[in-house]
Parts: sequence; C-alpha cells; structure tokens
Amino acid sequence: MSAEQANPRNLVQQPAAPSRPHSRGADIETIEIGGPDMVASRIALGTWAIGGWMWGGSDVRSAFRTIQAATDHGINLIDTAPVYGFGLAEEIVGRALAANGRRKRILIATKCGLEWRNAKIHRNASPARIAAEVDESLKRLHTDYIDIYHLHWPDPVVPIEETAGAFAKLLQDGKIRAIGVSNLDREQTERFRQIAPVRTTQPPYNLFEREIEADLLPYAKASGLVVLAYGALCRGLLSGRMSSATRFEGDDLRRVDPKFQQPRFNQYLAAVSALDAFAHKNFGKSVLALAIRWVLDQGPTIALWGARRPDQLDAIAQVMGWSLDEPAKREIDRIVQDTITSPVGPEFMAPPQTAAESLVA
Ligand SMILES: NC(=O)c1ccc[n+]([C@@H]2O[C@H](COP(=O)([O-])OP(=O)(O)OC[C@H]3O[C@@H](n4cnc5c(N)ncnc54)[C@H](OP(=O)(O)O)[C@@H]3O)[C@@H](O)[C@H]2O)c1
Repeated sequence: MSAEQANPRNLVQQPAAPSRPHSRGADIETIEIGGPDMVASRIALGTWAIGGWMWGGSDVRSAFRTIQAATDHGINLIDTAPVYGFGLAEEIVGRALAANGRRKRILIATKCGLEWRNAKIHRNASPARIAAEVDESLKRLHTDYIDIYHLHWPDPVVPIEETAGAFAKLLQDGKIRAIGVSNLDREQTERFRQIAPVRTTQPPYNLFEREIEADLLPYAKASGLVVLAYGALCRGLLSGRMSSATRFEGDDLRRVDPKFQQPRFNQYLAAVSALDAFAHKNFGKSVLALAIRWVLDQGPTIALWGARRPDQLDAIAQVMGWSLDEPAKREIDRIVQDTITSPVGPEFMAPPQTAAESLVA
C-alpha cells in the first residue's frame, strides 16, 4: 500500500455515534506516571492498526467507534505515532477527541524520530526533525500540547544526548508535558536521562516476548519509570481468535512476522490453547484476559492494547479485579516453555537505521 492510499485525507470524517454504551469505566485500574499530575488507566488504546499501514488497511468509521468505546470503558490514555498510517492515526485520534471536549480528559501519547518517503521509513532523531515533527503532530491531533512524547526508536547516527536536548526544549516550551522513550535499552535510557527527565519507557512486552525482564524492567522498577508494554496481545496471537487456517491480507505485518509462519505458528497456537484452558479452569477467564492481566501483574506497567473495532475491547472488564499469584505465573511459564520449542522475538519490527538502508529494505 502506498502512503497516499494509507492516508486518504478525505476519509477523516466526523466521529460516528457510539454503537452501544460502555459503562464499566469506574472499575479500570490506574497508575501515576511520574507523579499525581498524570494518572493513566492501566490499559491504553494502541492505534497502530487504526492507521492501517502494515495492518491491511484502515476503516475510519470503525476507528472512531473504537476510540469512543475505549473512553467509555474508562481508558484515558491513547498511544499513537505519526508513522501509523503516515499521519492518519494521529488525525483520527485528534478528530475523535476534539468532539465533546474530550481532549482535556484523555492523555495522548505520541512519538517522533521516524521519517518516511513513499512508505519507506527510516530513523531520524535529529533536533531539526523533532522540532518539525512535534508541530505536525500537534496540528494532526488538534491540540496545543502532547501529554507524553516518546522517542520512537534510537537513531544510531544522532547522539542520544542531542535528541534528549531537543525533547528537553519541547518540555520547556510547554509543547509536551512528559517525555518517554521507546525501544531504548537501559544504557541508552540512562544516557537520555542525564539530559532530560523521562517518565515512561515503551518496549515490546507480552507473555511470549519477555526480553525486557533481563534488564530494562528491573531498571524501570528501580527508577520509577512506567512501562508502556506494546504488543500486549502479541499482535493478536494472544487474543485466542486464531487458528492454523488464519490468513492475513494486504500489507499485514503478520504475513512476515516469524511467529506467524509454519511450523512455528502451530507451536504458538498450541501455547495459546493451553493457556486458554488454564485461564478458564483456574480463573474462569479467557486467554486474552489472562495475557493482559499477566502484563499488569509484572510491575509498574500499562498494557497497550491495539484495537480497531469496538467489540475488541469488550474483554476489558474481565481483566480487572483479580491478579495472578506466583504459582500461577510459574505454571504459565511452564506452559510457554513446554509448547514453544523454537521461540522468536519481535526483532523483525525494527525499522531501517538510515535512509540508505531503507532504500534497500
Ligand atoms: N513503540 C513501538 O515501537 C510500538 C511498536 C508496536 C506497537 N506499539 C503500540 O502498541 C500498541 C499495541 O501493539 P500492537 O497493536 O502492535 O499489538 P497488539 O495489541 O498485541 O495486537 C493488536 C491486534 O490484536 C487483535 N485484537 C485486539 N483485540 C482483540 C480481540 N478482543 N479479539 C481478537 N483480536 C483482537 C487485533 O488484530 P485484528 O484486528 O487483525 O484481529 C489488533 O489489531 C500499538 O497499537 C501501538 O500503539 C508501539
């Protein structure tokens, strides 16, 4: 899909009326992000799929209804990025929140540091790029401040200190309220924090992708950073809806995601099936609820839940009001280890590091 196809400006319409009421908002767990001035729901709406790019296209009306459903469920944090649909996801979020004065009640997290041309992306976290990007995001989001601004990916060409300096200036200018980093390791995060205060870190984290447990998660716990865990459902794998017959259309990234290729796909499906049986037997819950609960029970986390249809958020109520004890976590580990004999991480998602690399990718 080209950038133009992914971002048809005339598709951005007025938000549709909610399809039905969601009134369970009061029950959602919350967490302070760096202090009492920023309190977020522990489930945030992820909008990559809403942008369409790498998810087989965007359904704008459904996207508006999903944002409405999310806020009705009590979600007050929406994660987006300029690159999601090359501006489209931010525009949808901005338009949806502009209605009914909802902007003030919702925290917007967006990102910078990726550049694109003809739908080919590469990293660029230079101060000049960041200064331009923030203004473009503010415009698309129909707002004059961003609540949490993340560096999307580290740029090997630009020293982290220079990038951090650009973020510090945005904070000083009042264009952003808080800083986050994404896909940075512990050492890179430490360097960034020497120059500018960081409140959140946004790494991949779910039952199947646990690389951060070695270093970044303990570091976040010790440093007071909140972890916005992305891919909490492992790109839908942990929803429980998939089978070996599941196919993905168009530019859907799961057509190349190594977890979704056979024979490995069947190993992951077997793990999902065993986890689903475990969740039902012990908690009366689905594997989807178990997967999100597990993320929330690992520390100071927020689960980023990617959704593009309102009904995909119906299970939120199933996630609240219980927790996993240590024996349950050990049994989950055993199931995962026994069923997935050739595990693979989320590394395939890393964008090209430079423009030159992007051209050959
Ligand atoms: N910082 C970064 O580099 C980075 C990278 C990745 C993601 N993120 C953020 O994290 C968010 C979440 O990650 P993600 O979207 O990649 O993955 P995810 O949340 O693990 O999975 C999202 C997908 O799961 C499926 N799904 C969700 N709810 C479902 C339900 N109730 N039943 C069945 N299927 C369901 C949907 O796919 P179908 O509609 O196809 O079924 C949805 O698009 C993103 O949207 C984005 O905001 C950040």
